[in-house]
Amino acid sequence: MSSKTDHYAVIGNPVAHSKSPEIHARFALQTQQDLSYERLLAPLDGFVASVQEFVRQGGKGLNVTLPFKLEAYALSTRLTERARAAGAVNTLKFDDGEILGDNTDGIGLVSDIVRNAGIVLTGKSVLLLGAGGAARGALLPLLNEQPARLVVANRTRSKAVELVHRFAAHPHLEVGDFAALDDAFDIVINATAASLASEVPPISPRVFGKRTLAYDMMYAKEPTAFMRFATQHGATARDGLGMLVEQAAESFYLWRGVRPETAAVFAELREQL
Ligand code: ATR
Repeated sequence: MSSKTDHYAVIGNPVAHSKSPEIHARFALQTQQDLSYERLLAPLDGFVASVQEFVRQGGKGLNVTLPFKLEAYALSTRLTERARAAGAVNTLKFDDGEILGDNTDGIGLVSDIVRNAGIVLTGKSVLLLGAGGAARGALLPLLNEQPARLVVANRTRSKAVELVHRFAAHPHLEVGDFAALDDAFDIVINATAASLASEVPPISPRVFGKRTLAYDMMYAKEPTAFMRFATQHGATARDGLGMLVEQAAESFYLWRGVRPETAAVFAELREQL
């Protein structure tokens, strides 16, 4: 590393669990980029001050994790279209006084489904479970793939209605009721926080068919409760580890203009879980 080394970090609270430093260190090695990437623990009431200090010291970019994605959105002086649609920012790039805010979570999800799992979204029926930040971040990148139908269902129905309303211009987007979902979808995406509590959203197993991909944005060493439920009913399940690696690759590309290979990094992370 030299004085020309560019500095990056993931900022959050807590942040000790973040795998981003490992992922970006591997990307940097692979693409021979001269950069450092650390963990930055910001006080809960000190996000903006921590970012300002990081920039003052010459920092080039940050990944933003919980609970600061909304504050990062507010702090950005320019937003990408997908960050604006997500209403949240997970990637900041500092350039000549400008703070560019992006959101790579949704495109990370889409890349993992389309490129890594090899499943086309165009023309398919997609069920998105949840209406919080994770679901919102996924909506525009999913819609850009032009599924035939994208149904958003949430335990608290009103939040799904509100979310769909934000994207009212998209004709193939609709609200679904947990209780009324009765047909098999091509792809079912769990964007709820249920897996954190080892729970499964209360949906009918009939949403899963033999050709359904059941995707959980969460990941763990063992399959999540949602993945087990889906496979018990005939679906193929996939967890969110690939999404994690792909969103990191998109951030890396935004910062460095170089696209890292993700497959080997994904395999190494899987091994270490
Ligand atoms: P995130 O940013 O991860 O999306 P969030 O904004 O707190 O987090 O949203 C959590 C989502 O998970 C919501 O859609 C929530 O449903 P409600 O709006 O009804 O609260 C959903 N969720 C959490 N636990 C759940 C459970 N056990 N079953 C179904 N949905 C659950």
